[in-house]
Amino acid sequence: MQHTFISKIDSHLNKKAVIKGWIYNKRFSGKIGFLQIRDGSGFIQGIVVQKDVSSEIWELANKITLESSAIIEGAVTKHPKQESYELQVSNIRLVQMSEDYPIGKKEHGPDFLLDNRHLWLRSSKQWAIQRVRNTIINATYEYLNGEGFIKIDAPILTPAACEGTTTLFEIEYFDLGKAYLSQSGQLYIEAAIMSHGRVFDFGPVFRAEKSKTRRHLTEFWMMDAEAAFVEHDENLKIQEGLVCFIAQKVLEKNQQELKILERDAKPLEKIKPPFYRITHAEAIAKLHKLGSDIKPDDDLGGDDETLIMKEYDKPLFIEKYPAKVKAFYMKRDAKNPELALCADMLAPEGFGEIIGGSQREDDYDALLGRIKEHKLPEKAFEWYLDLRKYGSVPHSGFGYGLERIVGWLCGTPHVRETIPFPRLLNRLYP
Ligand code: 4AD
Ligand code: MG
Repeated sequence: MQHTFISKIDSHLNKKAVIKGWIYNKRFSGKIGFLQIRDGSGFIQGIVVQKDVSSEIWELANKITLESSAIIEGAVTKHPKQESYELQVSNIRLVQMSEDYPIGKKEHGPDFLLDNRHLWLRSSKQWAIQRVRNTIINATYEYLNGEGFIKIDAPILTPAACEGTTTLFEIEYFDLGKAYLSQSGQLYIEAAIMSHGRVFDFGPVFRAEKSKTRRHLTEFWMMDAEAAFVEHDENLKIQEGLVCFIAQKVLEKNQQELKILERDAKPLEKIKPPFYRITHAEAIAKLHKLGSDIKPDDDLGGDDETLIMKEYDKPLFIEKYPAKVKAFYMKRDAKNPELALCADMLAPEGFGEIIGGSQREDDYDALLGRIKEHKLPEKAFEWYLDLRKYGSVPHSGFGYGLERIVGWLCGTPHVRETIPFPRLLNRLYP
């Protein structure tokens, strides 16, 4: 008999079904056993009644341990009280008996759980987070493709920094000297827009910053989007459209997951345009009112972002940061060249920065000047300067941190739970 995924079990109502999965919990009450079964696609309760099964099956149901794998057969019925299904078990075939599964029902500390990340991924909340992550990834492709962006893959091994020289992972590259793990594919997709107009990349990026916060990973997934003939304001519109689309898709596809995560969906239903928009100078003034001692020319730290985002029920763009705290490639504001034509998008409910973006410097001489000011190796940037020599156009782009968006939409404050295998300052295992 062909097996059925739990997510499709409704098509088997009042019929037999075979489920291939794992026992994640169980409980017995006299002559009835309740097996909680999961198969990756969902969860179902299996009911074993002593008088309805052979003595071998009854014994196996009693003996079977948490996280044992099994093929379970039974009739599908409607749950008497809830909007769900149950399996009236008639047969259990053991695949492998699990011994002393280390993650139990009692509370475990984060270190223990992270050491056992390879097993922790099976827990229902961790399962739900990865399903939401999958929705966000697919929604991103769908939205950007719909807006005329094509995916272009940027390299991971690079000859120079994109975001700042202090946060690079360095490696020896044969006879060519040092190579660095990419911090963002942006510079490469800037080249690709001169071929395709609108492009995005999506892949792992690496930051060697020694940050030990709930928002920092040393390896994380970034999506960079870039578009020719797009200036600052339109850049923000594209970001707003993308984030609204993603939130909608999660609400549409992940109600079960949000419930498992005890994530209140109400704040997500509010994610509709227009998002709020203030300047960096206005943000500083607001932060001072809220009790922060941030200096007028400072970048916002994690605490400042949390503080300011308690005030907003939708994402907020903070634009026009002092150019000196931002990356070398940002175009300056024509009205005040001390400011960059950039914006960070901060997520509400205290989550903070999820997107960083800007209009790019498109003038050859201005860009060369910035490369020199930032003491970047000119040779390594020759190709990037070429883009301003041969048909330069105004252009803009942005990059999102996938784990930050997953964390926000799932209501999970620490990014370490939003990536399957987190890489942190003090963690490289498993
Ligand atoms: O703001 P960032 O550094 O911007 C860039 O790298 C640009 N080149 C993007 C672009 O314009 N194409 O990083 C973009 C986003 C941040 O807003 C944040 O969401 C996430 O990446 N991010 C991190 N996520 C997890 N751990 C870290 N250490 C992160 N650093 C940045
Ligand atoms: Mg940033």
